[in-house]
Amino acid sequence: MFIVMEGIDGSGKTTQTKLFAEWLKNSAGFDRLFVTREPGGWYAGETVRELILGGNLSSVWSEFFAFMLDRCEHVALGITPELAKGSCVLCDRYMPSTLAYQIFSNPDIPDETAEYMFRMSDVIGLPKPDCVYLLDVNTGVARRRLETRGKIDSFDARGENFFSRVRSGYDKIMNLSPDGWIKIDASGSEDEVFSEITARFSEAFL
Ligand code: TYD
Repeated sequence: MFIVMEGIDGSGKTTQTKLFAEWLKNSAGFDRLFVTREPGGWYAGETVRELILGGNLSSVWSEFFAFMLDRCEHVALGITPELAKGSCVLCDRYMPSTLAYQIFSNPDIPDETAEYMFRMSDVIGLPKPDCVYLLDVNTGVARRRLETRGKIDSFDARGENFFSRVRSGYDKIMNLSPDGWIKIDASGSEDEVFSEITARFSEAFL
């Protein structure tokens, strides 16, 4: 089973991924659980993470291919072998992040190009998640959460409009291939969101 967690910065995805991992192990019987994240999650992942998140790449395509490089190695060294061993893989961000942040959020990229890039994942044979959670919040909620965590700088640097476009980008991606997507209203409390995540999982898979 391959599960992916997605959402804009400040959606609470990282907190919920941790809680969900505990639950999958302790309450849903997934003893072999591989919890990982992108960018990163393989031996040179932190280097690529610094390169990309340092914000110094000048072309959006360099950013796109850097995230793809990171993902291809992460898949080859981590995700595919773990799935082959029968582990349940829980990944914080995956291909939908690259499509939403680098492609669908960019008003200069025409729709046909975006849809072409959308197909890239199948073309290169990346493993397809059984389930993609989309933790959906508006940018106001995301901003307030990042403010309380003192992480507002990168949000401000990219601007609230950028995150609005990422948010609607996620919807477009989900609508292009809705199989396995679970969209959750993530504006509630930590407990409310977590209950919804586990209830929807039990309904679909247990
Ligand atoms: P991170 O510190 O992991 O934030 P979060 O906990 O919110 O996921 O930083 C990841 C950042 O990288 C986040 O702003 C989203 C961005 N990102 C992309 O732009 N494209 C991608 O393909 C991935 C995986 C992440």
